[in-house]
Amino acid sequence: MKILVLGNGAREHSLCYAISKSPKTSAIYSIPGNYGISKIAQCTKIDLNDFDSIHTFCQKNQIDLIVVGPEVPLVEGIVDFFINKNIKIFGPEKFAAQLEGSKGFMKDLCEEYNIPTASYERFDDEASAITYLKTQQIPIVIKADGLAAGKGVTVAESYTAAEQAVKEIFAGRFGKGMEVVIEEFMEGEEASYFICTDGIDFLSLASAQDHKRVGEGDTGPNTGGMGAYSPAPIFTQEIKDQVDKKIIIPTLKAFQDKGHPYKGILYAGLMINNGIAKLVEYNIRFGDPECQVLMLRMKSDLVEMMLNTIDGKIKDTNLKWEDDHCATVVMASDGYPGKFEKKTVIKNLDKLSNDNNFQVFHASTLKEDSNIKADGGRVLSITAKSNTLQDALDKIYDSINLIDWPQGYFRKDIGYKAIKR
Ligand code: AMP
Ligand code: GLY
Repeated sequence: MKILVLGNGAREHSLCYAISKSPKTSAIYSIPGNYGISKIAQCTKIDLNDFDSIHTFCQKNQIDLIVVGPEVPLVEGIVDFFINKNIKIFGPEKFAAQLEGSKGFMKDLCEEYNIPTASYERFDDEASAITYLKTQQIPIVIKADGLAAGKGVTVAESYTAAEQAVKEIFAGRFGKGMEVVIEEFMEGEEASYFICTDGIDFLSLASAQDHKRVGEGDTGPNTGGMGAYSPAPIFTQEIKDQVDKKIIIPTLKAFQDKGHPYKGILYAGLMINNGIAKLVEYNIRFGDPECQVLMLRMKSDLVEMMLNTIDGKIKDTNLKWEDDHCATVVMASDGYPGKFEKKTVIKNLDKLSNDNNFQVFHASTLKEDSNIKADGGRVLSITAKSNTLQDALDKIYDSINLIDWPQGYFRKDIGYKAIKR
């Protein structure tokens, strides 16, 4: 099969890696891809919002399957578009994509189906939001209703910070007309849980956990994710059973009831406190960097799982994982998630070997004048698996020492909570 992967992150690089291992794959294409991806896929620059041009590309290259990495095209309805064109595409339709596209939609659905999550109110005007705030406890969580590239959530420790966050959203920081969700603050430890569903049945993927904050000890501003590991010891069988019963199954039922079965990857962000899991958020795609650790551990055929999902027979998939522990450490441009320098030169990447136990997944790299250069915030995702998490991390950090990139930044404590357990 000819398979097209949409996106340009390390998540998409790892998806291309897993797809390249499938006996079903004859060629891999990526739009837009990046320098790392170009080693295993043919990369073409087309705007991911330009569905017509992507369609023309698919026709020209006789693409059999499209895999969508990031959330934006899903929220914009790319799956509905290609289903109508009779091209197989992996991901949820536009209606279901609202789970990530609108926090208000997700919270209302949780309320309707009694799914445990933080209590909340939705607001479409600043004055009532601020009046409501004054009746609430601090800390409190302020969320922009729509997509905000991970920057739309403020955990406010004071009324002043909460008010400011509300004002910024209504002033249009994340787009005109954006509404606000105000949520109760939940204590606990976060965990990510991924399932793959054909709308009726679902498979649980291996557990994985990311580190969202930029600084060591999980401090500082939120990022897309600075590292991840799998399995995640906090996600015990007991928690999994509870989450399946109280969160996942009711969610899938909700979409069946609404006549829009959810198909694809569903990523539940959870808060676990004293053995009770509550839903923080839903994402409609693989996590980045969680995908990287899952793809290195996946033993079964990713393409087969995706086709079974599309064809409504996910139950036929025999999902298998390596018993090993896998970790990834993200190298970012110094300054991320704030301002950073672009086009800095990364040397010595060729000193790192890529094999079944070690992969350098690229997030934003390009090649210019025979140099590999950083082209964004998160740049590399150094991923290894081994018998123990500590050993996988040692391999990663030893390899990072070989890389010559003075403008690169990485956290030195990825996996510390899992190792302590
Ligand atoms: P979200 O985009 O909704 O996942 O929020 C981003 C991050 O903000 C989460 O990963 C949590 O760390 C934090 N967060 C969001 N909502 C809450 C909440 N209700 N209570 C505590 N922390 C939260
Ligand atoms: N790692 C967090 C995310 O992909 O949203």
